[in-house]
Amino acid sequence: MTTTVTEIAGDVYRISTFAPEYGIQFNQFLIKDDEPFVMHAGFRKMFAATRDAVATVLDPARLRWIGFSHFESDECGALNEWLTAAPQAQAVASFVGVTVNLADFAVRPARALADNEVLETGRHRLRFLATPHVPHGWDAGLFFEETGRTLLCSDLFFQPGEPPALTEADLVGPARAAIIGGRSSPLAKDMPYTPYTDATLQRLADLKPRTLATMHGSSFAGDGERALRDLARVLRETLGGR
Ligand SMILES: [Fe+2]
Ligand SMILES: [Fe+2]
Repeated sequence: MTTTVTEIAGDVYRISTFAPEYGIQFNQFLIKDDEPFVMHAGFRKMFAATRDAVATVLDPARLRWIGFSHFESDECGALNEWLTAAPQAQAVASFVGVTVNLADFAVRPARALADNEVLETGRHRLRFLATPHVPHGWDAGLFFEETGRTLLCSDLFFQPGEPPALTEADLVGPARAAIIGGRSSPLAKDMPYTPYTDATLQRLADLKPRTLATMHGSSFAGDGERALRDLARVLRETLGGR
């Protein structure tokens, strides 16, 4: 298992570990700033690999903020390992995430972010968007790095295998194929289609991201607004009404 580090946008580092047992990449995103931020703590069992990868960019003990989308092991399994390794670090999540999960799970108090609240880390501004059930989970939320217009989009645009770190090619086609292929998997039905799904995707598109930082698969550089509106259509066609 090897971990690679790639700067996919200014100060945004993709830390990627391919896990053969799952056949997918697990990607964390480190934002180098006065108050370093990482999106996804990652799996507990991958903590040493993630920490060593962070150390190629900055001292892991300097980490200040740990964000994630929703409460799952790949998103926040190593949260307490991070809180132990970085004495100034604090988890940031949705009000639901903090109240329902982190208030009990985390070894130190977490900070709850309101929908649309901005977290300033120095040069960068991270806008938090509460996105219940997108990609999944009542507690779900996403972060938008406004300075460089990077959307940290968790499981949206999921692609299996070992694609390149960053692509300008279409991401929606592979994501659509993964949704359809996933229907026959024991892990099927991971993404619900709720009364909020389309409006949430349209709201993300309105942000006009230049980079989409995906947790599983390639990140995307290009017209993020168009990719998100296309993904909304794909979700409506493949999941809507089922
Ligand atoms: Fe997930
Ligand atoms: Fe994930």
